[in-house]
Amino acid sequence: MHDRMKILGGLALFIILASFPVWYAHSTGKAGVVPDPKLVNAGKECIKSKAYMREYHMSMLDEWRDEVIRDGKRDPVMVAGVEYQKSLSGTCMKCHANKTDFCDICHNYLGVSPACWDCHNFPKEQKHETR
Ligand code: HEC
Ligand code: HEC
Ligand code: HEC
Repeated sequence: MHDRMKILGGLALFIILASFPVWYAHSTGKAGVVPDPKLVNAGKECIKSKAYMREYHMSMLDEWRDEVIRDGKRDPVMVAGVEYQKSLSGTCMKCHANKTDFCDICHNYLGVSPACWDCHNFPKEQKHETR
């Protein structure tokens, strides 16, 4: 009898501890806080799929810059039948004009601050223009 109580008690404690992350999250509402970038008048499609953009937009920007500046390849990209230039300010920031609620939301969360804006413009807050 005594042993049985111990086992049940131990089992109960185990269940409480094992499920801790679940009920803790429920009671605080804090778990799973992930950045929630806002799309404002961005249309329906990005250059590539959302999943692709999420993972690879930085390398896409690097490639665009190299193609445009080093190789002079300014051939446009197509999004939903519309031509866009390979341009950070002229293209990305045209659809994602809300830098603060979009780019910055993720970057602040991750602690990255791309230095692009030292030279490139983004909507509203005007900085020295490169093009
Ligand atoms: C024609 C408008 C348009 C252009 C140009 C555009 N985007 Fe997007 N972007 C969108 C839309 C719309 C979505 C959401 C797509 C979806 O939900 O399937 C999106 C999604 C994204 C995402 C994923 C967001 C998330 O919630 O995971 C990133 C990152 C992104 N874009 C960055 C960029 C960058 C960087 C550029 C320039 C290289 C760019 N976009 C150019 C419209 C655009
Ligand atoms: C869904 C979240 C998300 C959104 C939205 C987003 N980014 Fe990013 N960005 C990231 C992640 C993740 C990295 C990679 C950070 C790392 O490598 O440590 C990154 C890195 C970058 C880098 C490279 C920074 C560096 O110093 O290496 C650039 C440039 C960049 N993002 C531009 C943009 C622009 C411009 C926008 C808005 C149009 C944008 N991002 C929107 C998540 C996002
Ligand atoms: C020291 C200033 C400076 C910084 C910092 C900078 N750029 Fe640029 N970038 C330029 C100049 C100048 C051009 C050439 C504009 C042209 O000829 O169209 C350019 C062109 C580009 C282009 C192709 C054309 C265009 O208008 O967008 C891309 C894409 C680009 N840069 C991305 C980036 C990204 C992403 C970052 C941040 C990770 C960055 N740049 C940081 C100065 C800078």
